[in-house]
Amino acid sequence: EKGGYDYFMLKEIAEQPKAVADTLLGRIDLAGNLCLDEVRIPASVLREVSKVVIVACGTAYHAGMIAKYAIEHWTRIPCETELASEFRYRDPILDQRTLVIAISQSGETMDTLMALRHAREQGAKVLAICNTNGSTIPRESDAVLYTHAGPEVAVASTKAFLTQLVACYLVALYLGQVRGTKWGDEILSVIRELSEIATQVEEVLETMEPVRELARTLADKNTVLFLGRHVGYPVALEGALKLKELAYMHAEGFAAGELKHGPIALIEQDVPVVVVVPSPRGRSVLHDKIVSNIQEIRARGARTIVIAERGDETVAPYADHLIEIPATPTLLQPLVATVPLQVFACELATARGNEVDQPRNLAKSVTVE
Ligand code: F6R
Repeated sequence: EKGGYDYFMLKEIAEQPKAVADTLLGRIDLAGNLCLDEVRIPASVLREVSKVVIVACGTAYHAGMIAKYAIEHWTRIPCETELASEFRYRDPILDQRTLVIAISQSGETMDTLMALRHAREQGAKVLAICNTNGSTIPRESDAVLYTHAGPEVAVASTKAFLTQLVACYLVALYLGQVRGTKWGDEILSVIRELSEIATQVEEVLETMEPVRELARTLADKNTVLFLGRHVGYPVALEGALKLKELAYMHAEGFAAGELKHGPIALIEQDVPVVVVVPSPRGRSVLHDKIVSNIQEIRARGARTIVIAERGDETVAPYADHLIEIPATPTLLQPLVATVPLQVFACELATARGNEVDQPRNLAKSVTVE
């Protein structure tokens, strides 16, 4: 059942290229158009959407944070992403023109379910992104886009996260297509790159041995910090969450621009800091900012573990450890940048003698508050 792997988590990490490809399957036609008829919200309704609100918990929330960057960039519709546990207890401003997207692997997370009920009571349309057929969240939503990750057994979410991202990109691109906003060369080229992304995830998986070796050398550390900007920021949060839940280590993710507002005080000799570097092409401002952040923390003694695009020579001199990933458009980078962080957390947990598939105090599906 574990298919020759020691843990379900390792098996599920390895299944990611297939999970991603399956989630794309049949949803993009040969001409590069999105075919999401299964999302049974009429195009006329989608054209009228004035705001998107994404609600989710944990790892699914990180997928939602990334979706915000994609939705606003490709559709120009204002989008907020909120923790379901916060959203359900406040008075959010929603109406018939609000599209609420609830993201959940299990489809049974209590806070996410309550958030979607809260939204529907106010007349908002709810679209679920879910991995479990017929579970409660899709049943109570107006529409559903299923992720096709297959069953995820390990408590820590890996392949479900990547497929949640794919589903979010599909929804963002579909909204763009239906509304005709910014529907141009950029979108078509992104769709092309998205259809090939499974191969790149595969490439990342083939180069993970140095990441495992590195993780083993850090088993006695007390803390690991994670930095990112733009979509790299939720990736940093996800890397930190994986490490907390699996390795039981103190880990924190920060937006790199916040360093000077406090977190830089945590940097001392030899603290491992993982930095997610955006592509040097395209938005080079982001890239240059993060290169200076790496220099700043390294000057204060940090041990820098840098995840960067293959061939990005500007960061190499400041990386104590360089983890190279394939080139992708910035918005899609989380699909490849997250994978090394999953492997890193899994290996550290193993090195510390932890139960990888069943971390202490955690349940796969959180059906209580
Ligand atoms: C982390 C993890 C959790 C879940 C969260 C939401 O690895 O698995 O943070 O992502 O409990 O679960 P779902 O997606 O089932 O609503």
